[in-house]
Amino acid sequence: MYQWILGHITWPRGILGLILVSLLALYWFTRVPSSMPRNIPTVPIYISLLGLWSDMGQDDIYDRWLREPLERYGAVKIWFAGRWNVLATRPSFLVDMFRHEDVYAKAGSQKKIPWSVIASLVGDNIINSHGETWRLYTSIMKPGLQRRITDSRPLLEKSRKFVDIILEEQQILGPDRGVLVNPIIQRWAISCMGIHFMDVDLEAIERPGQRLEVLQTIIKMTLFHPLFFNFPQLDRYPYIFRQRKVAFGIMQEFGDLLCETVKQRPSHDETADGDQVVDYLDRALKEGRITEEQYRANLKVTFLTAHENTQQLLNSTFWVLGQNQDIQQRLRAEILATGEEDPSTELVHSLPYLFAVILELLRLYPPVSQLINRVTTSVAVLGGKVAIPNRTWVGWNAFGVHTDLSVWGSDAREFNPDRWGKDVKSIQNTLRSKTTQCHFIAFNAHSRKCLGQGFAVLQMKILLFEMLRRIEWTVDPQYEFKLTSGGIMAPLGLRAVINERSR
Ligand code: HEM
Ligand SMILES: *[C@@H]1O[C@H](CO)[C@@H](O)[C@H](O)[C@H]1NC(C)=O
Ligand SMILES: *[C@@H]1O[C@H](CO)[C@@H](O)[C@H](O)[C@H]1NC(C)=O
Repeated sequence: MYQWILGHITWPRGILGLILVSLLALYWFTRVPSSMPRNIPTVPIYISLLGLWSDMGQDDIYDRWLREPLERYGAVKIWFAGRWNVLATRPSFLVDMFRHEDVYAKAGSQKKIPWSVIASLVGDNIINSHGETWRLYTSIMKPGLQRRITDSRPLLEKSRKFVDIILEEQQILGPDRGVLVNPIIQRWAISCMGIHFMDVDLEAIERPGQRLEVLQTIIKMTLFHPLFFNFPQLDRYPYIFRQRKVAFGIMQEFGDLLCETVKQRPSHDETADGDQVVDYLDRALKEGRITEEQYRANLKVTFLTAHENTQQLLNSTFWVLGQNQDIQQRLRAEILATGEEDPSTELVHSLPYLFAVILELLRLYPPVSQLINRVTTSVAVLGGKVAIPNRTWVGWNAFGVHTDLSVWGSDAREFNPDRWGKDVKSIQNTLRSKTTQCHFIAFNAHSRKCLGQGFAVLQMKILLFEMLRRIEWTVDPQYEFKLTSGGIMAPLGLRAVINERSR
């Protein structure tokens, strides 16, 4: 039929026809299915595609187009990863979603877009799996993920090197220019992840430019490329989009290199704090409880999730404490008052302001700011209000929940650690109740909450202890604040001016 149309009209009209056909196809492909809930608004598709032509930060995008409908209706229909989804921020909706994982079942990219580059990176793993498979992965990995860490020295040692390195870089730059902190943060985060989950010192912080670390920067750029992020369908055609072919190769290389690296790790005596995730996975593979593919997927996802979120959080820490000198000073005063240079885990856990600052960072800069990785397994009525058809993807936006004035009060958008409580016990209680109510979802909540939360908080406490004890910093005056436009939430390209404290 197209031949007929094209054959019977003259050239300019042919072009017109082609445009018309493409527009119709695009309309058909991107229209909102009529089965989607009607009592919540639709976010216009161009807002999801903004990343293609603008570099607006995700906080600005949220404030301009998402905040109003989400705060009013609690949920919206939104285009993401090549389809329409339901995105929620009202706490009562989230409690329903997170408590009923049987109805709102985890289904990540391996289910949604199995042919994509991201699916080839993460596979079916402990974070995105559901049901029996998830229970299997959890039974194997949980003891390693939640292993109690009593010895603070390995983390302290890496944190010390981190401070040494930023001081060295500042020395090289001279006093007028700030250090680009993120690449060093990444090396620190990968080092900490290695010694605590992979049972191997990857020496990422000591030796810059190692392939396993360099690959992380490439992977992050590849995944968050706005075109392929929004139209993962294009990943089906790696022979047309050559850069996707390269991307598949990079993901393969990362998996191979990681497996090779942990296989060749030097064995050493058992440590006081017990086996690590990699040891449990090795054993499960040997006993035939998981396949080679499942082994790889879980190893990779542990590598990624155990360094990436903390990396981004520290990214934001430099910004927030660099901007708020009074908070930086108050935190330093708490730390110096201990009179310690080698804090134990008990000591860092005993400091209330340190704990509250970290939680407040997670509240206003949740590294996982938005996630749409659940699918309904039947017709569902979210929070008793929003009727969602079977097989519909649903998700949440943590930045939205955490900055909603009706949830956190009129000062919701201010950085105020005191809101968490004055002593460790009351801060813990606030954290627990805020999480249960889904007012605070930086680590998700209920049945599928983060299993690395304890480690992440400890690691931040130890690093901040070391940093505040030894350095002071300000944000480079030439730095213009901008958050990432999608994916992980963090400030872009931050530079900080670092000063060593005189002791
Ligand atoms: C600041 C640091 C971290 C943040 C903000 C964070 C956040 C999250 C969030 C939001 C989820 C839920 C994901 C979803 O709904 O699909 C999650 C799950 C998970 N996280 Fe973390 N995470 C952090 C650090 C870590 C670390 C260090 C590990 C250690 C390996 C870890 C391991 C996991 C695992 C295994 C799950 C899946 C739990 C399950 O589904 O049963 N996380 N995390
Ligand atoms: C929902 O969809 C799933 C998968 O397609 C199917 O197995 C199930 O029977 C459906 N449930 C209902 C209630 O339609
Ligand atoms: C924070 O992380 C993002 C994403 O990896 C990166 O692009 C950005 O440069 C980082 N910001 C800082 C503080 O350098």
